[in-house]
Amino acid sequence: MGAREWRVYNPSGKKRVIVTKELPGERWLRVLAGAGCRIEICTSSDFLSVPDIKAAIGTRCDGAIGQLTEDWGEELFSALKRAGGRAYSNYAVGYNNVNVNAATKHGIPVGNTPGVLTEATAEMAVALTFAAARRVGESERYLRAGEFKGWLPSLFLGELLWRKTLGIVGAGRIGTAYARMMVEGHKMNLIYYDLLQKKPLEDFVSDYSAFLTSKGEPPILCKRAQTIEDLLREADCVSLHTALDNSTRHLINLERLQLMKENAILINTSRGPIIDEEALVAHCRKHSSFRVGLDVFEDEPALKPGLADLQNAVIVPHIASSTRWTRQGMGTLAATNVAAMLMGYPVWKGPSTLVFLEDNPPKAAPSIVNAKELGIPTIET
Ligand code: DGY
Repeated sequence: MGAREWRVYNPSGKKRVIVTKELPGERWLRVLAGAGCRIEICTSSDFLSVPDIKAAIGTRCDGAIGQLTEDWGEELFSALKRAGGRAYSNYAVGYNNVNVNAATKHGIPVGNTPGVLTEATAEMAVALTFAAARRVGESERYLRAGEFKGWLPSLFLGELLWRKTLGIVGAGRIGTAYARMMVEGHKMNLIYYDLLQKKPLEDFVSDYSAFLTSKGEPPILCKRAQTIEDLLREADCVSLHTALDNSTRHLINLERLQLMKENAILINTSRGPIIDEEALVAHCRKHSSFRVGLDVFEDEPALKPGLADLQNAVIVPHIASSTRWTRQGMGTLAATNVAAMLMGYPVWKGPSTLVFLEDNPPKAAPSIVNAKELGIPTIET
């Protein structure tokens, strides 16, 4: 990685922060400069290896913003610590690429960017759902290939989702936002699987159902599945919204795929390894009316053999959060995490991180995942 592939913003800043990719927008730069940082940004779109990043950290580095494509483990956190580092933020809400225990061991706070990508990711899950259900990719390829000879009664028959049953695995922020879009927009009954009961989601569905019945329309049901198997058997469309860890790796395997309805739809905008992708390819080959919509892949950026050839798979390259507003917001949150830790501020525990996008944001870090372990104080207002 040559020096010419890095640019410097606010060269007179006294604290040195490295950022391993260019981020959209300008506000994140102003946030760090406002905290007295000199910011060194890697302008190359090549993915940085651990040695590349270690070289960039060098002998003096106060903080870093890294990407989900990088392996932030013991080697990088010990290098950051030795260089005087006091803060790291992932430019993502997910942080399965970060060894948080290693960071904690070295006393380094780890930030992430929750809140700003909730709706964008949920919208992409909706887009994939309908692209899969209505065979958008397949039929577009057919049209572009000049095969469309005129309207036919059975051309690309798909699935109607209106008033069918939606299954959500993981009813956190994004799962809930997606569920609400599908329930409100398409009057789907909801079944969810989560380790915790999600009363606000249940109340939302029951209030919405009462509203519909007050207008003379049929009600909508919501229930919490006892087991993931129950959900897979019952749902017409299943969307995955769980974090990746050892307990969720290959959560969807061949055995569980076989429990799903023959013409079910499976959506993944969370992390690729939650699905055993080889098993998925085999299942899709065998069941042509089973459809999948994927934003994330097990060996990202590689696809398992056969996946790209499946007509019943809609695949996009991990772009669920890719709207200008969202990606700029992620930059602001990541920069604020690092700036706040370098300034000795507490961690925000208020209900929403969107306040950090407003004028006069709180003097706090939006989200530090190991704040408790490191004994960093929190504030709520
Ligand atoms: C995240 O933030 O974890 C997403 O996968 C990237 O948008």
